[in-house]
Amino acid sequence: MDTLIRQAEACDIERVLSLCKKQCEFNRENHSPASLYDAEAAVLQAVVEKMRTSFQNRDGDTLFLLADKGQATCGYAVAKIYTEDPAADAGTGRTGLLEKLFLTEEARGSGLGQALMDEVMEWFQGKGIRRVRVEPYGWNERAKAFYEKCGFQEYSVTYEKFM
Ligand SMILES: CC(C)(COP(=O)(O)OP(=O)(O)OC[C@H]1O[C@@H](n2cnc3c(N)ncnc32)[C@H](O)[C@@H]1OP(=O)(O)O)[C@@H](O)C(=O)NCCC(=O)NCCS
Repeated sequence: MDTLIRQAEACDIERVLSLCKKQCEFNRENHSPASLYDAEAAVLQAVVEKMRTSFQNRDGDTLFLLADKGQATCGYAVAKIYTEDPAADAGTGRTGLLEKLFLTEEARGSGLGQALMDEVMEWFQGKGIRRVRVEPYGWNERAKAFYEKCGFQEYSVTYEKFM
């Protein structure tokens, strides 16, 4: 079945929130147990509510893409343009952020991630953006391999220590 990539509309709010929740659950399944000392239900609720606000407040500097297979939505991408801190020594000004990218398990491994990425990058280019960030977790080898295949390279790195 063909996949359709399209911009989310107001009526898609529940589809967006459902994918957001699934992505949060996916992350939590993969995080170090040492970092999961919080209440999962509260975190999920906060993540979904944050996404709801972000979707409701979307503007010309925000892109919400959905990937549909028939009636089902099997993936999404959320991209934003923000103004980098003027004191950021790695470069300032308007910067692209690929905030969310997620495919349901069955939709992975068949080029759909690339199709979403192509649309996102075209949107950034149309907006004159020359620098795009994405912040995968260190454990997410598949996502890191995917981004590298798409031309991203490791830049800033975050370390954590659990006590
Ligand atoms: C990351 C993701 C968007 C990539 O989309 P995709 O359509 O599955 O991507 P591809 O099929 O092109 O695979 C990307 C690369 O991942 C790697 N890969 C593929 N299958 C893999 C597997 N089972 N395990 C590890 N790496 C794998 C390969 O390097 C592959 O590149 P290749 O096709 O040149 O071999 C998708 O897998 C996904 O949604 N994963 C879960 C959510 C997630 O991690 N999102 C990113 C948050 S930062």
